Order: sequence, then structure tokens, then C-alpha cells
Amino acid sequence: MVNFGRSLSELQLTEVNRLSNQLSFDQYIAVISDKVTSALSDILPSQWDVPTTLKESMTYSLLAGGKRLRPILVIAACEALGGNKEAALEAACSVEMVHTYSLIHDDLPPMDNDDYRRGKLTNHKVYGEAMAILAGDGLLTHAFYQLIQLSRKHGISAERVLAIVEDLSEMAGPRGMVGGQVADMEGEQGLTDLSQLEYIHLHKTSDLIIFSLLAGGHIAGADEAKLEALRLFGHHIGLAFQIKDDILDLIGDETKLGKKVQSDVKQEKVTYPYFIGLEASKEQVESLTNQAKTTISEAGFQNPQRLLEIADYLMNRDH
Ligand code: IPE
Ligand code: IPE
Ligand code: MG
Ligand code: MG
Ligand code: MG
Repeated sequence: MVNFGRSLSELQLTEVNRLSNQLSFDQYIAVISDKVTSALSDILPSQWDVPTTLKESMTYSLLAGGKRLRPILVIAACEALGGNKEAALEAACSVEMVHTYSLIHDDLPPMDNDDYRRGKLTNHKVYGEAMAILAGDGLLTHAFYQLIQLSRKHGISAERVLAIVEDLSEMAGPRGMVGGQVADMEGEQGLTDLSQLEYIHLHKTSDLIIFSLLAGGHIAGADEAKLEALRLFGHHIGLAFQIKDDILDLIGDETKLGKKVQSDVKQEKVTYPYFIGLEASKEQVESLTNQAKTTISEAGFQNPQRLLEIADYLMNRDH
């Protein structure tokens, strides 16, 4: 089993990695996914007096499923450098909250106007638009509370927590995911340049993926060179991930995806397949995945296996 125990000696860590590496990749993601889902089901401190509907609406989307890719990346990056996986779980929940808020808002009528997400009705279809907006606000804010627990509960240095909080502010905010979403909204019609589309994808999607990897790296005490390798890896798999999302919107299976296909067509979005064609988009996903794997393979990580597997898994995913 993946061990999330704390304060492990180097010898114990080697043993944990050995055992963890024995799991099949499917088992590995199932174990992490279960851990994350169980932590997210009880994410607000029990002594807090929080309106019941808000709690329900936040929990509804957090527990609606999802691949938990970003949490997996936090934990895999931390593990690749021999860090504390229990602390990584804290940051993993944090990024999943930010991601889930972004999906709730992305599905709202003035944005993509989608009715299904993760195989269920979208948040605003169940709780109404006002509560969906507020559930998103609650998730975003609580993500920062969660990050502070890295120091409070796990003894991660204040300097590292500061770096993680700074990264999240940068990568989820105006220069990051929110900026990417704005460019996506503004670029619906009249996008003429592939670099504009790349800007959208890199920011609306890659930035949170990069954040996840860097957070795992910081928790494990990564040096600048390792952080840079994680950043580059995230840049490539993040872009590949969104191109694949565009491809699946065109040719994916609705029941597997848990969301309606052809949403981009309906919204007249300019996507990679729209811009460069389906075959070229698939080639791009493959080439970015290979570049990502080369980056990690050459960066001297002590245990890079899971990061390499994740890159392949994302390239081949059907949901
Ligand atoms: C969907 O993300 C939104 C994008 C950034 C493409 P995911 O495909 O990771 O969604 P879940 O978390 O599995 O539902
Ligand atoms: C969403 O991109 C990106 C964010 C939520 C930040 P999409 O609009 O392509 O995601 P889906 O296809 O609805 O999941
Ligand atoms: Mg969108
Ligand atoms: Mg959308
Ligand atoms: Mg999409």
C-alpha cells in the first residue's frame, strides 16, 4: 500500500517507495484517489459554523468523481523526490478544491453553459447559480487555509509554504488559470494565431498542473533545478492534456467523460482540432508527452517512475 506516514527515515522511505512502486499504475491511482476523496469529504474543520447548503454544494462537486489528476501529480512529484506523502495529501486537496471551483464556474450559463459534469448535473443545476458561485468562492478560499496546514500540521518550513502559496496565487489567479479562462472567453471567435490558442491552454489548464508538481516538489525540498524540471514537465503534459480535452470534446464518449461532448462546437470555441486538425492534434499530444518524459528522465529524480507513467496515462486516456 502507499504509505502516507510521516517522519520516515531514509531507509524507511526507500522501503515505502519500493512497496509503492510494486502497485500497478491503476492500483496506485486508485489508492491516491480514495485517500483524496476521503480527505475531501470532511474538509471543513468540524468546529466551524458553516451554512448547511454551502457545505452541501461544495461537497456535491468535490465528491462527484473526477480523475483527481492534480492531486496525483502533487503526490507523485513529492514521491519522486522522496518527500512526505501525508503532507502532500494536504496540498493535493488544496489544488483539487481550486480545480473543482474552476469547473463549477466554467459550467455556469454565462461561461460554457453545461448541464453535466463528472457524470452528474452541474452544481448550478442542483443548487442554483448564486449558490454555485458561492460554492466556488468557498472552495477557492478554503484551498489557501488548507495550504497553511502544511506548516501547522506537518512542519513544512514557512519558507516553503510561502513559496507554495505564492505559486498558487500566481497560477490560479489573473496571470494563471483565471487569465486563461478570460482569454478563452474572449477568443471564442476571431482567433487567428496558434500562439493565442497556446496562451489559453497553457494558462487555463497547464498552470494548475504545473502548480501541483511544484507543490509536491517544494514539500519534498526540491532544489531549483528539480523545480525547473517539474515546471517544464508540467508545461508539456498540461498542454497535451488540454489538447486531448479538445479532441475528446469532438470524438469522445459522453458516458465515459461524464460531460456532454461537442460543447466547444456549440460555444464556437477555437480549439486545437479546429485550428490544426484532428490528426495533427493527436501528433502534438504525443510529441509533448515524449518531451515531458525526456525532461523528467534526464533530471536525476530518485524515483521518477510514476511521473513517467502519468504522462503516458494522460496521452492514452479516454475520459
Ligand atoms: C477538466 O479537467 C477541465 C480541464 C482543465 C480540461 P479534468 O479532465 O481533470 O476534470 P476531472 O477533474 O477529471 O473532472
Ligand atoms: C476548462 O476548460 C478549464 C477550466 C475549468 C479552468 P474547458 O471548458 O475545456 O473544460 P471542460 O471541457 O468544460 O471540462
Ligand atoms: Mg471552458
Ligand atoms: Mg467547459
Ligand atoms: Mg473542454
